Amino acid sequence: NSVAAVVPAAGVGQRMQSAQPKQYLRLAGTTVLEQTVKALLQDPRIAHIFIATSATDPYFPQLSFSSERPITRVDGGATRAASVQSGVAAAHAAGFEWVAVHDAARPCLTAQELTTVLDEALLDEVGALLALPVADTLKREGANSRVQTSVARDHLWQALTPQVFRSEALLKGFAQLGVDNPQLTDEASVLEALGQQPKLVQGRRSNIKITLPGDEQLAQLWLTENHR
Ligand code: C5P
Repeated sequence: NSVAAVVPAAGVGQRMQSAQPKQYLRLAGTTVLEQTVKALLQDPRIAHIFIATSATDPYFPQLSFSSERPITRVDGGATRAASVQSGVAAAHAAGFEWVAVHDAARPCLTAQELTTVLDEALLDEVGALLALPVADTLKREGANSRVQTSVARDHLWQALTPQVFRSEALLKGFAQLGVDNPQLTDEASVLEALGQQPKLVQGRRSNIKITLPGDEQLAQLWLTENHR
């Protein structure tokens, strides 16, 4: 059962306050994006990787991927959902029934997480996503930075990636909901909007999304711990 990976990498990474977008920061001798691709290649079912970048991205052409499996660049869009749609459309056109969407900014994905989420998704009617049970106490903010209320954290999960779904279902959802819809911050939300209930698969805390300054040091630590 072969699967295409779709990697949205067209973000500008404003919150990182760095010269390059976060997917091109140096990490363990290469770039974040090259590490992410390496992580995805750990499962032999990933047969093709589609990477969505900005059409004018000057960094992507400088990367080198040593892989016998094909890696194709597609044009990303103005939102993460638009970038994902572009990759999923290319994967669907190439004949892939299933896609594993994985953020370019999550290089610390382990082989075990990837294998488990693929195993679970491919046996499921809907599909599956990696997620993490919320560990901290949650507060809802009211006026003037005051706590309005605490939110019970049982049954609350943080969505991670990969998120593994049928390419056709995602494309149908994007067409119905629009890729500019601010609620579509992950792929599971697309399926949920279609009335489906994706399966939660527990991931690891190390599967961080490099977002803020300092996150790249944390990622470096996880990668050199050799926890893959
Ligand atoms: O901005 P955020 O951290 O949610 O980005 C998650 C992933 O989506 C990143 O890998 C980023 O490059 C990608 N993205 C994209 N196209 C956009 C915005 C974000 O591919 N327009």
